[in-house]
Amino acid sequence: MEEVVLARVGAYTIRRASESDIIQVIEINEKTLPEHYSDYFYFEILKDFPEGFIVAELDKRIVGYIMCRIEYGFSHIKRFGLARKGHIVSIAVMEEHRRKGVGSTLIKLAIEEMAKKSCSESYLEVRVSNREAISLYEKMNYKIVGRLESYYRDGEPAYLMARSIQNG
Ligand SMILES: CC(C)(COP(=O)(O)OP(=O)(O)OC[C@H]1O[C@@H](n2cnc3c(N)ncnc32)[C@H](O)[C@@H]1OP(=O)(O)O)[C@@H](O)C(=O)NCCC(=O)NCCS
Repeated sequence: MEEVVLARVGAYTIRRASESDIIQVIEINEKTLPEHYSDYFYFEILKDFPEGFIVAELDKRIVGYIMCRIEYGFSHIKRFGLARKGHIVSIAVMEEHRRKGVGSTLIKLAIEEMAKKSCSESYLEVRVSNREAISLYEKMNYKIVGRLESYYRDGEPAYLMARSIQNG
């Protein structure tokens, strides 16, 4: 498959994911996050919204990823009504590659792809204790719009964070 390079951040290449990246994406997920998914889930996400599955690469190794889904349902921004929403299902950057702008670039590019799919908003869930991620999302203009009690398997609550997307 043709490689679609979306951006460069320092020495990192940010490009669209392909099926052959998924094993490395799963490895990163397992090292960095307590929420894991079946292999099938990753392939489904890639198939459903390939433009929203983006990886960061350095020297032919994947060091970070974002994967998203397009959904239709109740708006998290408007008081009433339905919206087409870009859901950030998972994002992670390997520890030694953090604070270099990779995570924020992955989000920025994913939001651009959501806009192209006519999403008017984006949302995600994050552990209430995950300060790094919450500050990243705030920097990317997400706001806390709700709290989901016992959202995670270990009982920790999640913040629901959302932002609007222009031209969506
Ligand atoms: C959250 C995560 C993806 C951020 O990736 P990253 O590549 O370091 O992000 P960036 O370098 O683009 O950081 C952008 C901004 O986020 C905020 N941020 C990121 N890490 C931070 C930290 N450790 N402390 C405080 N703010 C932080 C800062 O505002 C930062 O901007 P700055 O570096 O100019 O101050 C990364 O820490 C990670 O993979 N964490 C583990 C997995 C995880 O928690 N994923 C989210 C699940 S909901």
